[in-house]
Amino acid sequence: MSNRIGPDQIRAMKGREKIPALTAYDFPMTRLLDEAGIPLILVGDSLGMVVLGYKDTTSVTMEEIEHHLRAAARAKPRALLAADLPYRSYDDPQLALKNAQRLIAAGADAVKAEGGRKILPQVQAIVGAGIPFIGHLGMLPQSVREEGGYRIKGKIESERAALIEDAKALAAVGAFAIVLELVAPPVAVEMTRSISVPTIGIGSGLDCDGQILVTSDLLGLFPWFTPKFITPRLNAAEQMRTVITEWRASISPSPKI
Ligand code: KIV
Repeated sequence: MSNRIGPDQIRAMKGREKIPALTAYDFPMTRLLDEAGIPLILVGDSLGMVVLGYKDTTSVTMEEIEHHLRAAARAKPRALLAADLPYRSYDDPQLALKNAQRLIAAGADAVKAEGGRKILPQVQAIVGAGIPFIGHLGMLPQSVREEGGYRIKGKIESERAALIEDAKALAAVGAFAIVLELVAPPVAVEMTRSISVPTIGIGSGLDCDGQILVTSDLLGLFPWFTPKFITPRLNAAEQMRTVITEWRASISPSPKI
């Protein structure tokens, strides 16, 4: 019998223990996170910025997610391995289902997409086909161009009410968890209390059911940009620079006197 973590186990963590989740885009990181006991690993489209060098997530393609997902899946994690449906890959229910099936074929246990009631028919098509689904509400990085930047959501009453309705709608059609990105912390608390599935926050305060981070931000692996809400716990880029510089010096002939 498999001891792999499934959507039911993640859902059952709500109210019992905090859910730690991190991103991975390749074999070694997936294996490291899994060995560290992270139960939920996401091949996120943050891949676009922290690995592929794009300005935002809107350039990430299905093929790129599939390529990195296959590498992550080769680690055969015990963790639930989720993958992002990239920008424009779920514009209608048929397309959403076709692309969700592609991600499952590439090794994902679940898929995630951004949006609430607007994408409900797509979520219904995915869940209806038996594919586990994670929602994503709040600041939606795939809409950053229309939005003109990243900002906290839920500070005004209309946004607060919409977020709560979106969370309820996603939970009602079968999302087994919902990522809350840059949601005003009191609203994230309200959303968490309003639904029976776990909320997993990023930049949304500490009172969600779980927390997710882009692993490169946690480890200081992408020093050129660090989101305001995170203090890296390791300065990996700086340590790498030091080791590389020392190695470079070590193979150079000593200067002749
Ligand atoms: O793409 C990603 O890494 C994400 C997380 C930040 C939640 O969606």
